[in-house]
Amino acid sequence: MGGIVLDCERNLRWLERLAGLLAEQAGPLTELDAAIGDADHGINMERGFNAVKERVLAQAAGKDLGTVLKQVGTTLVSTVGGAGGPLYGTFFLRMGQSADGKSELDARELRDALAAGVEGVRQRGRAQPGEKTMLDALVPALEALDAALAAGSDNRAAWEAAARAAEEGSRATVPMLARKGRASYLGERSIGHQDPGATSSALLIRSLAEVVG
Ligand SMILES: Nc1ncnc2c1ncn2[C@@H]1O[C@H](COP(=O)(O)OP(=O)(O)OP(=O)(O)O)[C@@H](O)[C@H]1O
Ligand SMILES: [Mg+2]
Repeated sequence: MGGIVLDCERNLRWLERLAGLLAEQAGPLTELDAAIGDADHGINMERGFNAVKERVLAQAAGKDLGTVLKQVGTTLVSTVGGAGGPLYGTFFLRMGQSADGKSELDARELRDALAAGVEGVRQRGRAQPGEKTMLDALVPALEALDAALAAGSDNRAAWEAAARAAEEGSRATVPMLARKGRASYLGERSIGHQDPGATSSALLIRSLAEVVG
């Protein structure tokens, strides 16, 4: 458990990797949103993370982790739009507040920062797991991370378990009935499609798992 799992350099690598994955997956994410939403989720996320690259990552030298994460949050709020903007914005703002003033996080601190972000999404969207949202990837990821850390797994293995749980969680949204957001307007017709927000949240956890050490 000891040691640093996320420092400033790895944090930037995470965010750059996430921006890359979202750009690569913008088409498929938008297709998922076309089925149960308004066909903009991938486009929204790509636009937001392009702004993050230009306004935050390009000017992050010398800034602590908390500051960078909070700037990611405010940038997403102002550029993503839709439901995803405020929700992902809140996620990164809360994560940044949890890491306030820090340049290095140990396993517990990174876990707490993730938990703060997930709690922010839960409060902001007033959703719970099982309602076909981002939380169906984020909550299983946090639970798997906690279980692995409690079982004494090393950080890489614990985060790998979290990434897998997020991916499984996003796939498990397929048979769910949407109860929140635009997809909920479809009622029963939302069943049979994977939730776009849960899918992008799995990319978020996967890219973080790739950089922790
Ligand atoms: N209340 C909520 N809590 C958590 N996640 C939510 C909530 N409402 C929607 N979402 C997530 O947001 C995703 C849709 O994001 P997107 O960026 O496409 O916004 P949108 O639904 O098009 O927004 P708008 O309705 O304002 O146009 C969904 O797939 C879902 O995961
Ligand atoms: Mg949409």
